[in-house]
Amino acid sequence: MSNDSITIKKPFDAHVHFRRGAMLRAVAPISAQKFSAAIVMPNTDPPIETIEQAAEYKKEILAAFPAGNTFNPLMTFYLTKNLKPEEIEKGLSNGVYAVKYYPYGATTNSQWGFRDILEAKELLSEMERAGMPLLLHGEVHVDESENEVDPYQGEKQFIESVFPRLLEQYSDLKISLEHLSTKIAAEFLEKNGETGKLVATVTPHHLLYAREDVEDKPLLRCKPLIKSASDREKVRGLVAEGLPFLSAGTDSAPHPESKKFASPAAFGVFNSPVAIELYTQVFDELNALDKLEEFLSINGPRFFGIEPSKETITLVKNDWQVTEPVVTDEGVNVWPIAHKEHGLGNETIHWQIAI
Ligand code: NCD
Ligand code: ZN
Repeated sequence: MSNDSITIKKPFDAHVHFRRGAMLRAVAPISAQKFSAAIVMPNTDPPIETIEQAAEYKKEILAAFPAGNTFNPLMTFYLTKNLKPEEIEKGLSNGVYAVKYYPYGATTNSQWGFRDILEAKELLSEMERAGMPLLLHGEVHVDESENEVDPYQGEKQFIESVFPRLLEQYSDLKISLEHLSTKIAAEFLEKNGETGKLVATVTPHHLLYAREDVEDKPLLRCKPLIKSASDREKVRGLVAEGLPFLSAGTDSAPHPESKKFASPAAFGVFNSPVAIELYTQVFDELNALDKLEEFLSINGPRFFGIEPSKETITLVKNDWQVTEPVVTDEGVNVWPIAHKEHGLGNETIHWQIAI
């Protein structure tokens, strides 16, 4: 490692959305080129609720890669009322690595989620018994009186009013709190995080941007919403500590241009073409490049019980800009964040993967 070059094991993405069909064929190969493996989110339409569906989805993902690609897609189930405890039990030996909770109504394809995670008693008990990790979209969307919660307060409410009860009632459940976006969530993890037991993922966009910069930028509209600069500073401070229970989860969530430039814009940012580079930039800004490899390539695999990659990538300090969209084989544009025109405007990325 020098000040302008770093070689690390090939990264692991602990949270990615590939979709299906033409969108999958356009975006999955980008992840497969840059990452060694990823936890693939199950909020497709229809959702992934059985081993059979997960296997079929995995097949579609693998078919999208060029011959010889070794990327490992790790599948997940969606925590819905249709998910069966038997599938959870058998899942772990059938390529399913976790179950994902979405709060009903909070985000893209969350119509199948429970309103309150504590309603999913039988499923959570089975996961706890089987050792199947729970991935948490930790936001309260609708409160006990059925009122919609201010989306800027959803994560805070979850941490204050739901999370302690969940941890108390399922004390052996392995949990990953996804996409930390607030000071309160970062502080909670700092205090309670535990390798192999209670971990968290962080996105590039929650490390890089602040609410005041992105409120009118459709490409940066996502759940959880990007919060204030002081929230961001706390999340940045946490990753700079190099804690073993924090890992990269890009939450790359592509939508077609028609949905991103609609009003309101669909929730979800597409970042896989720039995620590793942006994480590196942030760690450089934090003088924490020595902590980058653990965060990007080691802590995630450790939680899910797989080996870190044996391949490496090298990043070099070099300014570049994103000037093009990704285009699907049906001719649909998909715009990555940090795009020169549609991101914040004239953004420059300071690190690049060397080829
Ligand atoms: C995700 C999507 O589009 O699937 N959107 C998002 O804003 N992050 C769903 C999710 O992870 O919330
Ligand atoms: Zn997501």
